[in-house]
Amino acid sequence: MTPVQAMLHEATGLTLSKSSVERAIRHRMEQTAAANQDLYLERMTAEELTALVELVVVPESWFYRDPQAFQAASEFVRARLAADAGRMVRILSIPCAGGEEPYTMAMVLADAGVPVDSFIIDAYDISAGCIARAKSGVYGRNAFRSQDLGFRDRHFSGDGSSDDYSIGDALRKQVRFKQGNLLELDLGARTGYYDVIFCRNLLIYFDKPTTKAAIARLNALLSEDGLLFAGYAEVPSFCQYGFMPLQYPQAFGLRKESAPAAKRAAKPAAKTAPRPARPAPAAAPASAAAPAPAPAPAPARVRAGAPTPVPAPHAPLTAADLLADARRLADLGQLKEAENKSRDHLAQSPDSAEAYFILGLVNELTNKHKLAEDYWKRCIYLQPDHYEALCHLALLAETNNDPAGARALKARAARIYKRQQES
Ligand SMILES: C[S@@+](CC[C@H](N)C(=O)[O-])C[C@H]1O[C@@H](n2cnc3c(N)ncnc32)[C@H](O)[C@@H]1O
Repeated sequence: MTPVQAMLHEATGLTLSKSSVERAIRHRMEQTAAANQDLYLERMTAEELTALVELVVVPESWFYRDPQAFQAASEFVRARLAADAGRMVRILSIPCAGGEEPYTMAMVLADAGVPVDSFIIDAYDISAGCIARAKSGVYGRNAFRSQDLGFRDRHFSGDGSSDDYSIGDALRKQVRFKQGNLLELDLGARTGYYDVIFCRNLLIYFDKPTTKAAIARLNALLSEDGLLFAGYAEVPSFCQYGFMPLQYPQAFGLRKESAPAAKRAAKPAAKTAPRPARPAPAAAPASAAAPAPAPAPAPARVRAGAPTPVPAPHAPLTAADLLADARRLADLGQLKEAENKSRDHLAQSPDSAEAYFILGLVNELTNKHKLAEDYWKRCIYLQPDHYEALCHLALLAETNNDPAGARALKARAARIYKRQQES
């Protein structure tokens, strides 16, 4: 990890590829007329870091993304209010990107007839630009990707002269937007505060230690019997750190393992440990304006550019050793070495789905998306129930503007995940 990658990691928790960081720096050097990178870094201020962060985040979101999650949340909120009409249900969306997720929750509750004074929605994102966009409540075509756009007629107005639509004032007032970093959010007064939390499509950009720290924070923020909604590729991480999945198809909802209701109502997670966590996907190069590229695999957090060396082998490595090494090297961000070990492993075990999966990660992180896709396809050809490969392919399909393909892959991944839980 270069010092700038480490600085951005410290500021955001994101594991970023070298190329996306370099691109962001070049852009900011142009904007600030810095003569060279050393000078630019020497003059780094808190404001400049904020501007740099804006260029590396992936603010990809749209209304009704994975709609079953909102349906499940709405049923839960209504059940809570039916049991205690006087209560205020508290909902958190973090990260909220440009507000698409919390506004969707507000629309779903409004359409279900839930009184506006019986719930509040807090929404945070680390990006100041995202929060400004969310507060303005004006959205272009990209935010309206779902098939059924009836909600747009009910809750938005457009002037007909452009593709832009403004969200209605009533809904705008339902969401309290604030800039905030999940990893630094003040927990003090908010322990157990939220009944429902949406934390979707953020942990995929974190390495393992950051994921663990983020889940601990979310656990603290969520009430004992609350619900949390994750991105579909993030459910296994939550299961690893104290949550159990809800049996609600394609909602990717979870409860705390310690929740009394969870013990009674939800099926326990599989006794076997969840599949070992893979190197988490990280942000591929992004610009604030361009559509977000596919998440790329991330190396594990490596501090101060001092990667832990992998010991040199003394005896010829077995196929299993080579694969374990490949995985560890990918985790450490030693991509070339991970690739070499994967290939050595394949020379001994040509049908190894896992080796192809790792090759996919390595290529994704180096922005060779097409190659990554080919490797992951090979992986699921060899092992059709490879959950992580399906999740990565679904993310790629989403980025490649193939919503139908992404939906099919997600549904397949969700079925496999459910099967693994039941087995
Ligand atoms: C892909 S969007 C997800 C938005 C929404 N939850 C969804 O699933 O559609 C990821 C967002 O995470 C935000 N983000 C990145 N690091 C963050 C952090 N440490 N705390 C809060 N937000 C963060 C980015 O600014 C970006 O808007």
